[in-house]
Amino acid sequence: MTTEPKRILLIVGGGVAAYKSLELIRELARRDIRSRVVLTKAGAEFITPLAAASLSGDKCYTDLFDLTDEAEMGHIELSRSADLVVVAPATADLMAKAANGIANDLASTALMATDKPVLYAPAMNVRMWENPAAQRNVERLKSDGALFVGPDEGEMACGEYGPGRMAEPVEIADAVEAHFAKNAAGPLTGKRILVTAGPTHESLDPVRYIANRSSGKQGYAIAAALRNLGGDVVLVTGPTNVPPPKGVELVRIETAREMMEASQNALPVDCAVCCAAVADYRPSIESEHKIKKERGGLTSIPVAENPDILKTISQLKNGRPRLVVGFAAETDDVVTHAEVKRKRKGCDWMVANDVSPGEHCAMGGERNTVYLITDEGDEAWPEMPKAEVAQKLASRIAKAISGPTLVKAAE
Ligand code: PMT
Repeated sequence: MTTEPKRILLIVGGGVAAYKSLELIRELARRDIRSRVVLTKAGAEFITPLAAASLSGDKCYTDLFDLTDEAEMGHIELSRSADLVVVAPATADLMAKAANGIANDLASTALMATDKPVLYAPAMNVRMWENPAAQRNVERLKSDGALFVGPDEGEMACGEYGPGRMAEPVEIADAVEAHFAKNAAGPLTGKRILVTAGPTHESLDPVRYIANRSSGKQGYAIAAALRNLGGDVVLVTGPTNVPPPKGVELVRIETAREMMEASQNALPVDCAVCCAAVADYRPSIESEHKIKKERGGLTSIPVAENPDILKTISQLKNGRPRLVVGFAAETDDVVTHAEVKRKRKGCDWMVANDVSPGEHCAMGGERNTVYLITDEGDEAWPEMPKAEVAQKLASRIAKAISGPTLVKAAE
């Protein structure tokens, strides 16, 4: 993979959200992505070229007819000097021009002349956003291949509420990073990987369910890390509140049986990482009506065993992924129990983590302390943020499965 920092051309339109574009430049810089800014005339009513230039460390471009710029760098070259063009805020006016091929200032000319993908972060009043003309332009831009992030729903500067707020800088930077990751040739390019994450919810009646404390954070981080290495990732997830990583195929499920079905539909894959905390049992009867306390309520819950996704995939006769990784959530004798589980289920690697309650509990928390158990023995990894566990695991997976794809047709 190239180590050259990525570059974006950031076109800042005229909207109150323009102030957030300054934070976007900083957020991108934190991720080693450089920005060069084109500020429209209206944009310059909200932020100054000096602020944009100071934060980006580059000249801020404002005028199509600036002869010095044309001598140093023409607008065509400027439009192609980046790996991605980002329009934030993308106003109704800028999108209308781009959708209809109007080029009458530096920003719209750069959008017409670029040969790079364009990511729009729209920002406008809710009525403007919902206006059929604006929606037509968005659809046209999408069908021309443009990418979009947001707009978000919320209270606007004008006091109205609804969709139209520009996505937050972190969200836009995530979309930029996901775009680069998806298009980067990495060690996992061409490899399809299934990741399961989060809890399952097993219904008792229309209002109650049995669940566990998994947040999905570890599984989502693994999906993002595998994607960053070029993997084509399917993330089958139980209900969570974690924002899904961009650039991965997301399949939302609720129950263990749905997770099994979605995982089987994702096959064949080169690698499966089963990080979900799947309920081993479900109530054997799901009441159609709310169970009433007055009618005896619940004194016991008869249960039925759920299918085991990890075991099923590990023991496939045909189309078994080259590498199957399970997770073992343990509270005592972590390594011993996880090794027994690895043998019983038949997966290649088991990542064991201690989920004893406490300040640093892996389940629901931000950090994890894991052991990687393989045929070669067990390795203790120091405590680290879940994103780092994910990166370390993803690079081990990449080492193990890089090389020609051997996936056969699934059963
Ligand atoms: O989601 P977070 O809050 O970030 O927390 C992460 C985590 C602690 C949930 C995660 O790191 C983890 O340990 N996941 C596995 C939890 C679990 O259910 O462990 P288990 O020992 O019960 O299951 C062993 C393995 O079998 C797991 O890979 C599990 O996905 C799989 N399994 C279990 C039961 C079942 N019916 N089907 C399965 O596939």
